[in-house]
Amino acid sequence: MSQRVKIKALLQSQQTDIDVTVKGWVRAFRSNRFIALNDGSTNNNIQIVVDFENTDPALLKRITVGAALSVAGKLVASQGKGQNVEVIATDIEILGDSDPEKYPIQPKKHSLEFLRENAHLRFRTSTFGAIFRVRNSLAFAVHQFFQERGFVYLHTPVITASDAEGAGETFHVTNFDLDDIPKTDTGEIDFKQDFFGRPTNLTVSGQLEGELGAMALSDVYTFGPTFRAENSNTTRHLAEFWMIEPEVAFNSLDDNMDLAEEMLKYVIKYALDKNADDIEFLTERLAEEEKQKPQNERSEMTLLEKLQFCLTHDFERLTYTEAIEILKESPPNKKKKFQYPIEGWGTDLQSEHERYLVEKHFKKPVILTDYPKEIKAFYMRQNDDGKTVGAMDILFPGIGEIIGGSAREERLDKLEQRMDEMNIPKDELWWYLDTRRFGSCPHAGFGLGFERLVLFVTGMGNIRDVIPFPRFPKNAEF
Ligand code: 4AD
Ligand code: MG
Repeated sequence: MSQRVKIKALLQSQQTDIDVTVKGWVRAFRSNRFIALNDGSTNNNIQIVVDFENTDPALLKRITVGAALSVAGKLVASQGKGQNVEVIATDIEILGDSDPEKYPIQPKKHSLEFLRENAHLRFRTSTFGAIFRVRNSLAFAVHQFFQERGFVYLHTPVITASDAEGAGETFHVTNFDLDDIPKTDTGEIDFKQDFFGRPTNLTVSGQLEGELGAMALSDVYTFGPTFRAENSNTTRHLAEFWMIEPEVAFNSLDDNMDLAEEMLKYVIKYALDKNADDIEFLTERLAEEEKQKPQNERSEMTLLEKLQFCLTHDFERLTYTEAIEILKESPPNKKKKFQYPIEGWGTDLQSEHERYLVEKHFKKPVILTDYPKEIKAFYMRQNDDGKTVGAMDILFPGIGEIIGGSAREERLDKLEQRMDEMNIPKDELWWYLDTRRFGSCPHAGFGLGFERLVLFVTGMGNIRDVIPFPRFPKNAEF
């Protein structure tokens, strides 16, 4: 038997009339004659032509949707429509039977909800094959982008004792017997007896440790899982998600914005080049979905157009204060259409406001800077006005916030003062403060929510569909 060839390579083959072996899973079997076989290397199936008159009927019966096959045969130019080449089977081996009565993934349209409940098998659909190939390319492109620029990939810890964002939405890490938690004389949990001898949690961000690396290696980035116990059952939040966090010594807020914009464009372009077929498929999928919506809610651009638009336009940059002015005067605010009306300066923006700015007002990605210090984390650099900090959020159409970042407060006295005001325990973060004691310097960084990026590039509507096995409130299946 000849060596196995991946279906992607077969479909691109310039040669025909050669002996080939293909392996994969049956997507469909028509007329006891045509098998659509897929091995995940591409969204396209190879057609296998079965000589049913000379094939054992018992074997034919076992060629069912979902079964794993090894097929040896001849690659020939296809007579039929829809494909250039096909394989005339000479030998079919069933590697793994499927049960056509019970196999959940039938060759028909399934709802995304149904497929979420069958996440263990949804990779076998065209939609999820495309999504996870695009996700793979984006992850690779992230590394390539930073590696080309001399950044050091830093592996920051998953288990930490700090809550970098100060939002308190952490998952505890313990090896206590939960039925018998040791208590102190005063009745509090005795963490001294716990595994680490102190309270610990899953990290919400690798930033603080990333900053330590940047204070010696200059340019670093992290790319790892992060965990947040925020009880938000939305299409934009996960309890476990992946974040990319570059941290760069000597960078200003402007440099930080430039880096973020360049990175987003780079990785989107990479996926467009590398996954043209998948993105074309996802563009058609989205166009079909859009047809179900009322005319006035349909997107003006296709997925492909949106991605290309993003590459060819500068992101709009403005301050929080300027954004508030625009929002105050906006038609939805005046007509009281916002769920959270914009009354004045100082309140946090809700996603309805972010999406108004991006989708209706500017109609392109937006970078908002210089937010009120009260609504941002303690580590952000304080501006001279005493009211705002050097923060930047990047807002994307259909997504809202995709990146959050800032210039960091490098001045020890200012940082300590802000930590006191916000009740951030200085003693626990002594190591973080040490960087401000020994050779502190201006620096900046940001965090890109990887799944939000994948959402944007795939045009999917729910973040639970762009990570293999989503974690969200009341769900940790698979
Ligand atoms: O804005 P956030 O909370 O910023 C930080 O964690 C900083 N330490 C980053 C930094 O400056 N190094 O989170 C960054 C991004 C958000 O913009 C969003 O894209 C994503 O992470 N994100 C989530 N994605 C999915 N599910 C959640 N629950 C998310 N929370 C934040
Ligand atoms: Mg944020």
